[in-house]
Amino acid sequence: MKFTTPRGTKDILPEEIPLWNQVEETCRRQLGLYGYREIRTPLFEESALFVRSLGTASDIVSKQMLNVATAGKEERYSLRPEATAAIVRAYLEHNLDKKEGFVRLFYVGPMFRGERPQKGRLRQFHHIGVEAIGLTSPWLDAEIIILAVRVLEALGISGFNLKMNSLGCEKDEARLAQVLKESLKDKLPEFCADCQARFDKNIFRLLDCKENSCRQLVAKLNLTDKYLCPECGDYFNAVQEKLKLLKIPFTVSNTLVRGLDYYTHTVFEISHPDLGAQDALGAGGRYDNLVKELGGEAKGAMGFAFGFERLLLAMPKAKPQPAQTAVFIACLGEPAQQSGFLLLDDLRKNGISSTMAYTPLSFKSQLRQADDLNTKLVVLIGDEEIRDQQFTLKDMSTGTQEKISAQAIIEEIAKRIAK
Ligand code: HAM
Repeated sequence: MKFTTPRGTKDILPEEIPLWNQVEETCRRQLGLYGYREIRTPLFEESALFVRSLGTASDIVSKQMLNVATAGKEERYSLRPEATAAIVRAYLEHNLDKKEGFVRLFYVGPMFRGERPQKGRLRQFHHIGVEAIGLTSPWLDAEIIILAVRVLEALGISGFNLKMNSLGCEKDEARLAQVLKESLKDKLPEFCADCQARFDKNIFRLLDCKENSCRQLVAKLNLTDKYLCPECGDYFNAVQEKLKLLKIPFTVSNTLVRGLDYYTHTVFEISHPDLGAQDALGAGGRYDNLVKELGGEAKGAMGFAFGFERLLLAMPKAKPQPAQTAVFIACLGEPAQQSGFLLLDDLRKNGISSTMAYTPLSFKSQLRQADDLNTKLVVLIGDEEIRDQQFTLKDMSTGTQEKISAQAIIEEIAKRIAK
């Protein structure tokens, strides 16, 4: 029987890892520059946390939760479909609201959604995201959107589009729901069955339905931001002014509402035309009611998450250098193998990446292996080297080789690698 990866999941092979690491390091550097500190939460949480935070009418809760069952017990847990809810849970569980008040956090890791897989849409994918919890200020909204843009720039991604909107406060959202119901009720029979069912439950979900026919109907909607109260209107204008100050291009889209219930006020999405149907590189927004919803005092919060795999798709296609093993030790015969094994341990203890073959092979095949690994230097040890206690050191880029005494070999290798 042959096993394969579950549908919608991927192995990330050693040859892909350097690129993943490079992207992660670039993102970490940017997030660090803005004062965001890493947090890690479990890969699964109580299902109720997600139901409560994301809403029962959201696609994630209604269709995509991957539940975790313990043999013989009732299911209570779900693999995390996103991290925002879990981070607010952690913020409250560890009293960060009392100890620190305002926190800037970031996270990297796998998320799970039982979606129909296609290009850019997986069942296990990765987020790199931030959550700033404990503050409502247009300066923070602007900082977070600017940070998202700077991360993309640092990765060399260009040609992306930033769209924003404001859902306003609870009263505004209720007004917007009313406006939407009025504008969509005649068109309802043309929407998909899911949307028809959502009309009464949560009208906003019609705006982020992924069905093509529904998207076309939504695109024709002619909404204005008149549902915003003066305060929320001013807040949204203040966010926009700060983006203009830094010359960040954006458009306001009144149909952008985002697919999760926790959003309030500013929401945004960054898309890229090269990504095809799944064109969102990342998205986020303010969620001022979630801390209270999960049992804390009312505190403002905002964040975003990028889909890691989609960043990779949108990045310029330069291949990063594969990680290099510096030294290969090629041995012929048992005594040589023993000396080589001792040298290998010493090199590694000295911080020099090195490896050797554990199967008896000719020097020629071992040199081929070293070549495949792209090693810089090869140490050749045979009977003659053991007798004279002089190892042969071959430089793989020039092809030159010379004898170096066993005592001096580590120092010589260290010197050549530092060059
Ligand atoms: P989201 O829009 O559901 O937001 O996900 C953010 C990004 O994750 C998307 O824009 C997309 O790039 C990527 N993504 C989502 N689903 C998949 C999938 N099935 N396969 C591949 N990539 C995917 C959130 O999750 C919010 N928690 C963001 C946030 C943080 N809002 C406030 N703070």
